Amino acid sequence: MEFDFDTPISREQTNSVKFDGRQYYFGTTDVAPVWVADMDFAVPECVTQALEERLNHPVFGYTLYPESLYQSITDWFERRHQWKIERDWILMAPGVVPSLFAAVRAFANEGEGVIVQPPVYFPFFSAVTTNNRKLLLNPLREIDGHYEIDFEHLEHCAQQGAKLLMLCTPHNPVGRVWSEQELKNVLRIARQYNLTILSDDIHADLVYSESTHIMLGRLAQPGDKIITTIAPNKTFNIPGLGLSALIIPDDEQRKAMKTMFETLHVGNTNPFSIVAFEAAYRQGDEWLNALMKYLQGTRDFVAAYLQKNIPQIKLIRPEATYLLWLDCRELGMTDPQLRDFFVKQCKVGMNPGTVFGEGGSGFMRMNIGTTRESIEHILLSIRESINK
Ligand SMILES: Cc1ncc(COP(=O)(O)O)c(C=O)c1O
Repeated sequence: MEFDFDTPISREQTNSVKFDGRQYYFGTTDVAPVWVADMDFAVPECVTQALEERLNHPVFGYTLYPESLYQSITDWFERRHQWKIERDWILMAPGVVPSLFAAVRAFANEGEGVIVQPPVYFPFFSAVTTNNRKLLLNPLREIDGHYEIDFEHLEHCAQQGAKLLMLCTPHNPVGRVWSEQELKNVLRIARQYNLTILSDDIHADLVYSESTHIMLGRLAQPGDKIITTIAPNKTFNIPGLGLSALIIPDDEQRKAMKTMFETLHVGNTNPFSIVAFEAAYRQGDEWLNALMKYLQGTRDFVAAYLQKNIPQIKLIRPEATYLLWLDCRELGMTDPQLRDFFVKQCKVGMNPGTVFGEGGSGFMRMNIGTTRESIEHILLSIRESINK
């Protein structure tokens, strides 16, 4: 089957954060939006059809999670990740970020330590700080354009009385797919210091062909305490629908998360999220395979273009995610100058690296989940602005 990722779809006037939020975020609507992590592509047809079918029934009451939804999740992880999970390990949740916040509250008390590895998706920090837990930073190590976990320092953080480690896997924004050895090292330290791990695997399905993502939970041994968050939201471009799932093998831990959601009174969903989620996991494989090919083509195009035409900007080649981490330090600008330069001169709206915490200075994050042609225009505009 052919899938079309090339025909642009206007998202303006749809209340989209990425497009209609430009004035608020960048102070102008005159920027090509390559920031917020959703894509400009139409969702797979199986998702649209499932939604249409549900729409044909004109009552939208409170809705249960059907058994078929759980089955679609266990099947997906067995089929795509060789991870056999049990139906009873699954807890449906109203999004990954709410799950991060709930996990912090469930597994660390006020004042207790939570380890976060910057540069990282910013709610990892706010989940800790807004809940008055202690942020223990274990910055990733950047070695010649490649990022690694600093295991020695991770152990040091664990020794500070940390209760929880928040792992981003694959890692947004640096695009790392952690190797089996790296994940095993993380598990070893967690075991030694009795840490619970929140493993945010939301980008697990957006992995480029040369890499293989391993679900941390698949490497677990009895007694390991791993809370895995997953969702089809990024994978199938339905983040506006919100629904996600937690996979928690340990009964006590699952109960703790469930209780936390009940305490916060979150958990209700809507019938549309459920049918979209299930349709994507049941029938979305072919679309996803085609998407990844397209994104890989764009990633490789950007890499080659930058190397040839804008060598001052270096791409940290991602192994996963449609988010590119661009090292702009050679441009020699301060962070406010860099942001201004891209917005005002290049007319490109990216996320400044500084929002991802320590290690983000001098970097920008570009979202390539759009047509190749748009990316070509953006690169040309950056090139012309730099050469001016
Ligand atoms: C690592 C990570 N976790 C979670 C999310 C968002 O999850 P949700 O929309 O389900 O809250 C994102 C979105 O960019 C992300 O990159």
